[in-house]
Amino acid sequence: MRKAVPKKKRRPAPLRVAIVGGGMVGSVLGRILTEGGGRVTAVVSRSRSSARAAAVFVRCRNFSTALTAIPPETDIVLIATPHDAVGDVARTLASLEELNFTRMAVCHASGMLTAEVLEPLAVRGAAVFSFHPLQTFPRDFRPAEILPTARGIVFGADGSPRALRRARQFAAALGGRVIMIRPEMRRFYHAACVAACNHLTALLANVESMYRILQPERNDFFPVFRPIIEATLQNIGLHGPAEALTGPVARGGVATVAQHLAAVERYAPHLIPYFTRMSLETVRLAVAKGSLVPERREALERLIRSYTEEAHPAEGNP
Ligand SMILES: NC(=O)c1ccc[n+]([C@@H]2O[C@H](COP(=O)([O-])OP(=O)(O)OC[C@H]3O[C@@H](n4cnc5c(N)ncnc54)[C@H](OP(=O)(O)O)[C@@H]3O)[C@@H](O)[C@H]2O)c1
Repeated sequence: MRKAVPKKKRRPAPLRVAIVGGGMVGSVLGRILTEGGGRVTAVVSRSRSSARAAAVFVRCRNFSTALTAIPPETDIVLIATPHDAVGDVARTLASLEELNFTRMAVCHASGMLTAEVLEPLAVRGAAVFSFHPLQTFPRDFRPAEILPTARGIVFGADGSPRALRRARQFAAALGGRVIMIRPEMRRFYHAACVAACNHLTALLANVESMYRILQPERNDFFPVFRPIIEATLQNIGLHGPAEALTGPVARGGVATVAQHLAAVERYAPHLIPYFTRMSLETVRLAVAKGSLVPERREALERLIRSYTEEAHPAEGNP
């Protein structure tokens, strides 16, 4: 009997992506694409220097300040310019007669904008979608520093079913996945991203300032607090925020909370508005967790509210 010859699996053709906007997001996503076997067909940016730097980083020889550099053999154009430039780029791109948009998809990386801003391209037959990387790309960093955190992330997208198939294909080529965001909720989605990243950063900056008051001569805030920060994130990942909540508020420890508030007022009065607001949010979470009896909740809320700005006007706020 002849042995059955296993059929060779055909590898999908590499995804070909042109990047407009040679900044942090364009550079990092472009590099992840090429590392995963995809191709960047062009890098177009406002200045030649940023186009060149991004092209080198994403391993593409074709860079320019003109959208005409985008070759017809491109599957997806990613517009990664600041969000206020996306509409202009879309209109200019749509005016290029030499590109056949019926075979091309176009997306943008803005968290604030929906696919609607790409309408001039949809009119020309392009599949258009928003494709917001749900990750932080600090602009003062080098793209190489951001790479590890941008692999395997989620992209917030909206668009037609045809466009969303392209969005999923693009996300898969970047090792990530897509979540659908209803267009009318786009701003709310972006506010949630801001809360997750920027508010967390502001919160940790407050912890850092408390540590500076405690240990003015030391410069090791992050190594000292890293274990508790990382354990908290890990615990939230395992069982959710309510289950992960520990500490005096969760236990209804009114006397301890009173001493904390008095200490913060004494050593860092400018942090009282922050500390009271977060303590009230923590009470809310403890209620959701079911760890606070109503009397303790009322006692905590009364105590915390007695420290709000009206009751204790903080002096000399920096
Ligand atoms: N940074 C983040 O954390 C983050 C996270 C998620 C999503 N996003 C979104 O991703 C997009 C890009 O953000 P980014 O952080 O990468 O910004 P960025 O680092 O400031 O880069 C933007 C790039 O776009 C170029 N550019 C500006 N106007 C242009 C135009 N009309 N045509 C072509 N190129 C133009 C700039 O060129 P020059 O360098 O020559 O000025 C710059 O290289 C934004 O929509 C942003 O909201 C950002």
